Amino acid sequence: MALGSLRRKALLDLGGNGGRLGLGLVRGLKTFTLPDLPYDYGALEPVISAEIMLLHHQKHHQTYVTNYNKSLEQLDHAIDKGDVSTTVKLQSSVKFNGGGHLNHSIFWKNLAPVNEGGGEPPKGSLGWAIDTQFGSLESLILKINTEGAALQGSGWVWLALDKEFKKLSIETTANQDPLVTKAATLVPLLGIDVWEHAYYLQNVITMQYKNVKPDYLKNIWKVINWKYVSEVFEKESP
Ligand SMILES: [Fe+2]
Repeated sequence: MALGSLRRKALLDLGGNGGRLGLGLVRGLKTFTLPDLPYDYGALEPVISAEIMLLHHQKHHQTYVTNYNKSLEQLDHAIDKGDVSTTVKLQSSVKFNGGGHLNHSIFWKNLAPVNEGGGEPPKGSLGWAIDTQFGSLESLILKINTEGAALQGSGWVWLALDKEFKKLSIETTANQDPLVTKAATLVPLLGIDVWEHAYYLQNVITMQYKNVKPDYLKNIWKVINWKYVSEVFEKESP
């Protein structure tokens, strides 16, 4: 993730007894910027329209980044002041906006234009793991789509690697909760955004999703970047 830096110096006097052993400590507060998409806004058409991709990236994702930075700055001030009440209060904003930034950063990498391998089935160890555990890729997709369609409200459906049990796992999270909020041992391999903002405006001639989430879920597999998913799986597999 792109990192900016908003630095503030704090001087800690660690001398004790009024001594002069003051140590300068540079306390860095990292800020985040919107990552570029690895493809053009229109590159996933007709599965996802350029209009959706542009709004999703420049408006929605940008808002999570902006609000995450604001929350971190407020949190830093609250910690400095020893303001426990505000520190605790800010946790939900950190989770929501930080989660939104984290989840969308994964989501963009989970997609690829068809002419760059989008939709090509996974091979190698991930393909083998899917076949072994779910019977086939089609069966896995059906399960993920069923879970995603059944998710109440806004959220995400995930294919995860469960490092504790050494197996693949289908998970859902509400709102912008990142997968790590379910278990620290779950590694996100593939996350599908099932917020309405991900598909509602779709308007590319024959593919009109509007509020029809199952159609969005059915079609998104045509642009899933299994190559990327496989790389994460191989890197994270115990
Ligand atoms: Fe989204």
